[in-house]
Amino acid sequence: QAGFPLWALGSDDAIALNEAGAVLAGGGTVAFPTETVYGLGADARNTAAVEQIFAAKGRPSDNPLIVHISDTSQLDELVLGVNDTERRLMEAFWPGPLTLVLPVKPGAVSPRVTAGLDTVAVRMPDHRVALALISAADCPVAAPSANRSGRPSPTLAGHVFEDLAGAIDGILDGGPAGVGVESTVVQAGQDGTVTVLRPGGVTEEQLAALAASVQRDPALARAGSADSPAPRSPGMKYTHYAPKGALCIVQGRTADAVSAKIQAELDAAGARGETTGVLSFDEHIGRYRADVAVSLGSLAAPEEAAHRLYAGLRQFDEAGATFILAESCPDKGLGAAVMNRLLKAAGHHIIFASDDGLASD
Ligand code: TXA
Ligand code: MG
Repeated sequence: QAGFPLWALGSDDAIALNEAGAVLAGGGTVAFPTETVYGLGADARNTAAVEQIFAAKGRPSDNPLIVHISDTSQLDELVLGVNDTERRLMEAFWPGPLTLVLPVKPGAVSPRVTAGLDTVAVRMPDHRVALALISAADCPVAAPSANRSGRPSPTLAGHVFEDLAGAIDGILDGGPAGVGVESTVVQAGQDGTVTVLRPGGVTEEQLAALAASVQRDPALARAGSADSPAPRSPGMKYTHYAPKGALCIVQGRTADAVSAKIQAELDAAGARGETTGVLSFDEHIGRYRADVAVSLGSLAAPEEAAHRLYAGLRQFDEAGATFILAESCPDKGLGAAVMNRLLKAAGHHIIFASDDGLASD
C-alpha cells in the first residue's frame, strides 16, 4: 500500500514513536505491540477515529473497547472513582495484563468505546513501546486486538499486516508479544470481591492473593449453551479466534483414550479427503499422524501454551487445514485463559472419548 507505514523499532525508536503518536493524535489508527497481543489503537475520545477501528476489524458495534493509559494520572479524566479493591489491584498489577471495568465519567470517551454502557474498561500495558506511544499521542487510547474480527489475535506485527494492511494507518513492529493471550478483564467490589469477566494474563491464583474472593462470571462456563446468561463482558459471546477449518476439542477420562479417539477421527477425516490438523502438547504430539501437527509446548508450562496459541491457530489456516482436533490443558494458572480461548475457537464443540471405544478397538 502506498503510504502505509510499518515502523520497525530499532535505533530510530523516537522518530517512529513520534510519527505514530502524531497519527493517533490526528484521528488515525495505529497497531502497536503490548505484553499480551498487538492492539489497534485510536484516540478514545474521537468517535470518527474509533469508528475506523470497528470498520477495519469488521467488529460488532455492541462490543466495547479497552482504553489504554500510560499513567494513573489519566484515570481522573476517565472514571468517576476507584474503590479500595480496584486501587490495590492497580498497584499490584499495573502496568500489566489486567483490565478493570470502572464507572465511566460521562462524556470522557466516545460512546462507541463503551457501546453505551455506564462503565469503561481500562488497562495500563506493560510494554515499553505501548507506553511510549500512548505518551506521545497524549490521549487515552482505545485498542482492541489488532486482528480481523473472528481471526486469532495477533502476536506478531506480521499477523496484523496479514489481517489489516490497507485498512489502518500504520503498524509499530516491536517483535513478538510476550504473554500471547489478552488481558484478564475484572470487576471489583468495594468489599474485596473480584469477578473475572474474561480470563487472561493475570491468573485467578494471582488475584486471589489480593482479593477477599475471586469468582468467574457464571456466563463463562456455560457460554454457547441455549440457556446461557448474557456474559457481563459483551465480547465473550462471540466466536472469536477461530481458524478457518472446523476445530473440535477432544476430552476423555484418560490421555490414552483421548489420543486414540483423536487419531481415529483424523484417519477417518483423511480418508474423506480432509486436510487434517492436530493441536497437542510435547508429551503427546509424537502419537499423531496428521497433515499439520502443532504443539503448544509442555503440558506443565501453560505460559508457553499461551505464548504459542494464536500463532499455532494461524498455522492451520496457512496449511489449509479443514479438520482440526485439539487436546485440552489443565484449567489452572494461564491454562484457564488458554482453555477459554480454545473453547471459543472451537465454538464450544467438544467430542468425548469413551474408554469403551479404546478397549474394543
Ligand atoms: O490484552 C488485551 O486486553 C488486548 C490488548 C490490545 O490490550 N485488548 C483486547 O481488547 O483484548 P478486545 O477489544 O479484543 O477485548 C476487550 C474485552 C471484550 O471482551 C469486551 O467485551 C470487554 O473487554 N469489555 C470492554 N469494555 C467493557 C465494559 N465496559 N464492561 C465489560 N466488558 C468490557
Ligand atoms: Mg479481541
